[in-house]
Amino acid sequence: MKIEFPYTLNIPPPNMARSIISFFSFLSILSLLTLTPAVSALPLSTSSRWIVDESGQRVKLACVNWVSHLDTVVAEGLSKQPVDAIAKLIVSLGFNCVRLTWPLFLATNETLAAVTVRQSFQSLGLLDSISGIQSNNPALVDLPLLKAYQAVVSSLGSNNVMVILDNHLSKPGWCCSNTDGNGFFGDQYFNPDLWITGLTRMATLFKGVSNVVGMSLRNELRGPKQNVNDWYKYMQRGAEAVHSANADVLVILSGLSFDTDLSFLAKRPVNLTFAEKTVFEVHWYGFSDGQAWQSGNPNQVCGQVYNNVKRKSGFLLEEGFPLFVSEFGADQRGTNVNDNRYLNCFMAAAAELDVDFALWTLVGSYYFREGVVGMEEYYGILNWDWSDIRNSSLTQRLSVLQSPLQGPGLSQSRMHKIIFHPATGLCLLKVGFLGPLK
Ligand SMILES: *[C@@H]1O[C@H](CO)[C@@H](O)[C@H](O)[C@H]1NC(C)=O
Ligand SMILES: *[C@@H]1O[C@H](CO)[C@@H](O)[C@H](O)[C@H]1NC(C)=O
Ligand SMILES: *[C@@H]1O[C@H](CO)[C@@H](O)[C@H](O)[C@H]1NC(C)=O
Repeated sequence: MKIEFPYTLNIPPPNMARSIISFFSFLSILSLLTLTPAVSALPLSTSSRWIVDESGQRVKLACVNWVSHLDTVVAEGLSKQPVDAIAKLIVSLGFNCVRLTWPLFLATNETLAAVTVRQSFQSLGLLDSISGIQSNNPALVDLPLLKAYQAVVSSLGSNNVMVILDNHLSKPGWCCSNTDGNGFFGDQYFNPDLWITGLTRMATLFKGVSNVVGMSLRNELRGPKQNVNDWYKYMQRGAEAVHSANADVLVILSGLSFDTDLSFLAKRPVNLTFAEKTVFEVHWYGFSDGQAWQSGNPNQVCGQVYNNVKRKSGFLLEEGFPLFVSEFGADQRGTNVNDNRYLNCFMAAAAELDVDFALWTLVGSYYFREGVVGMEEYYGILNWDWSDIRNSSLTQRLSVLQSPLQGPGLSQSRMHKIIFHPATGLCLLKVGFLGPLK
């Protein structure tokens, strides 16, 4: 997640834009195979653009981002609800996976890793949070930070929730800006060798923990130092380091410019010694295009932006790589016109491309973010005190996307067309009966 940054919209050729416009106006027609229940045999791997389990059946990552990289270095919400209750809530909302963030220094600074949850909150003066954790999660309050992180992963595992470990930044705190020293290899807090060490430690620590199905190497590369040559140099090193420490996990590579741009891969693929484990990730928010949604015609903007997304990252699906939209989301108060229009377009595109995804965010409020105690998160699926969902319209809209619509291993017996309405998430089912796909 980032704060808004200046962005210039690249307008695609008008004919391309127009072909998408009619399609994405307000209805998407999708081909859909009969849905099958998701009991996955882990670990996961890739088969062309699909993420699949041991039996070759598609597993669609329907994740939510759970933040654990801010100043306290504790997964958010533990002062409000027991960790097991949060895990069960995630399942009840239809997600099968969490993208759990972590700051690099948790893995590379042993002093930090050994600080207890209680001490971490004490040092920030967050005494109310301590009593909240004491009553909701007494087993966690005196654990060292790294053990508390493992305990969250373990609780998710007990509830059959898959986890993607996401190295969000180096120095604990809110992310991301161009100038925060965490943006690109060589920045103040981003020493590439230390990063490799930290990735290796995390990959090793979670080796054999079967619900940890993937590792995102680094969130939102950015800033004045970013360049394509160093991207290949270090991302390939990072990927090899993770894979050699833990060959089970999917290795997830993010792009440049706040993870909006992987276009360079069209000319030069990654060169890795291993296969069938590589996934790319991309972020797509309303503010990724500034205020374009609010100021333009939503259909035209949808066509233009969708074409840009295809050119900068979506093309990877056609090249046979899974694309994980690891951050998207919108202000759920419904008052942000830019976000509302973007979300309609996003839902249509996500249904059409049938991509793996992670919503930003589970978090209803943060212990402490950017100097503010108890900051509310209006993009969060939970409310401020983590007791209920913030706005059921979003969960309803997401529910169709949480199931795989296409891909290997789904029942071949029946095929449907569905008409999906992105503004509500509702569908008309069984419009046509076409027989099996070849
Ligand atoms: C390691 O963590 C401790 C505890 O937070 C902190 O005081 C120290 O400055 C950190 N060291 C480095 C090198 O970042
Ligand atoms: C890929 O990497 C290997 C070893 O790391 C190297 O020998 C080979 O030349 C590389 N291939 C390309 C196409 O760059
Ligand atoms: C929930 O979201 C919908 C759609 O954006 C909006 O119209 C509604 O006002 C929201 N409700 C609340 C309580 O924020």
